Amino acid sequence: MDSIRVFAPATVANVACGFDIFGLAVDNPGDEVILTRRNDNKIVIREITGDAGKLTIDETRNAVSVPVIKYLAHLGLQTGFDIVLHKKMALGSGLGSSSASSVAGVFAANKLLGEPLSTDKLLPFAMEGERVACGSAHADNVAPALLGGFVVIRSYAPLDVFKVPVPDNLYVSLIHPDVEVNTKDARHILKNEVSMNKAISQMGNVSGMIAGLMSSDYALIGRSMVDFIIEPIRSILIPSFFEVKMAATEAGALGCSISGAGPSVFAFSEGRETAEKVAAAMKTAFEQVNIQATTYVSTINQAGPKILE
Ligand code: HSE
Repeated sequence: MDSIRVFAPATVANVACGFDIFGLAVDNPGDEVILTRRNDNKIVIREITGDAGKLTIDETRNAVSVPVIKYLAHLGLQTGFDIVLHKKMALGSGLGSSSASSVAGVFAANKLLGEPLSTDKLLPFAMEGERVACGSAHADNVAPALLGGFVVIRSYAPLDVFKVPVPDNLYVSLIHPDVEVNTKDARHILKNEVSMNKAISQMGNVSGMIAGLMSSDYALIGRSMVDFIIEPIRSILIPSFFEVKMAATEAGALGCSISGAGPSVFAFSEGRETAEKVAAAMKTAFEQVNIQATTYVSTINQAGPKILE
């Protein structure tokens, strides 16, 4: 096999109370990467579509190629690839756009080379894509995009990541308003210190979220979807955020918060029917302030990246 086409999914990072430690994958949207072997050892980005010309084709600075370069260097392989990247979601969307590209790229390279590493071992290379995209190698988008499911990053040094089982009927409503939030900026506005009271409240919710997911206790999941630390600061970057959140809960959502660094917003619901209503209610709330938005409804995607024919 000389060429491969791979899809990697969008992700919801933080999942309300788990800043930089919780993330989940959705079914769509997601990015596609086509990798083709070259006869030399160059990594060449041949084409990028769907990015409105914003991404560089400099292979040393693009989130799709850097993980591939780091991966090849780790294995000591002198192999070259042509890369085509089809972006299916906006940059700065809060949907884990750069992570989907990073994961698709390194997953494709590993498959083409006959899987010298198991999929979970690709995580540190995918994280390097996050570093070039936003200056911080956090894993809460790349880990669920790579492994699928709901993922916890228990520790960064050493890296310790695990998946949490989720209830079958848990649905994600995701809305991307037509507003751009730069992840680097959205990280810079955060405070470096947290009060003891907020830390205690947040730890309660982190514990409640994990227990709720593992025991299919939907009400406990909902009660745990309160972010005392990040959402109060970042919500100012999202027009009508609190109206959108209220619309989601009035439509039956278990809870609602910012997806990643925003501006996308996500909600959890029990059942697809409620999740569809929640997505529609959030869209209406954005439209009331003349912001167009795209919605997605999905279960939590357990598969992660997949090879496309
Ligand atoms: N945990 C990250 C953040 C996710 O909220 O900044 C965005 O990439």
